[in-house]
Amino acid sequence: MALRNIVTEPDELLHKKCRKVEIFDENLGILIDDMFETMKNAKGVGLAAPQIGILRRIVVVNVGDGNIELVNPEIIEQDGEQRGDEGCLSCPGKYGTTIRPNFVKVKAQNRLGEFFEYSGYSLKARAFCHEIDHLDGILFTSHLVELK
Ligand code: NI
Repeated sequence: MALRNIVTEPDELLHKKCRKVEIFDENLGILIDDMFETMKNAKGVGLAAPQIGILRRIVVVNVGDGNIELVNPEIIEQDGEQRGDEGCLSCPGKYGTTIRPNFVKVKAQNRLGEFFEYSGYSLKARAFCHEIDHLDGILFTSHLVELK
């Protein structure tokens, strides 16, 4: 495993739409393992592939209850509303309040191409939304209701 460099604002890679993953090979597994290691090293709760310069639809999340890998994720259900503070490894030093759904259900593949569904409330729902937004070039700063 290896640490990857985290791309930061104002890098244009952060504003691009990512393409779907179509090849589930050994390289994908290596990339996902590197993303987990890079996220942990940076003390983040989520990381999206464009944040390490890879324009593919891959997200990793860990809010303290284990690693979750999401390949080609889609939010298929959402409910409620939460207001809370958010930051991003690609926007160092920037924090602000956003409003997100309080519950989301995500359909995604793993590194083998198998389909799974994950549900998350609260911080996990927030992390899913934040990271999946990255895949469409959307940063949390476009959801800000208050900048800290
Ligand atoms: Ni982020």
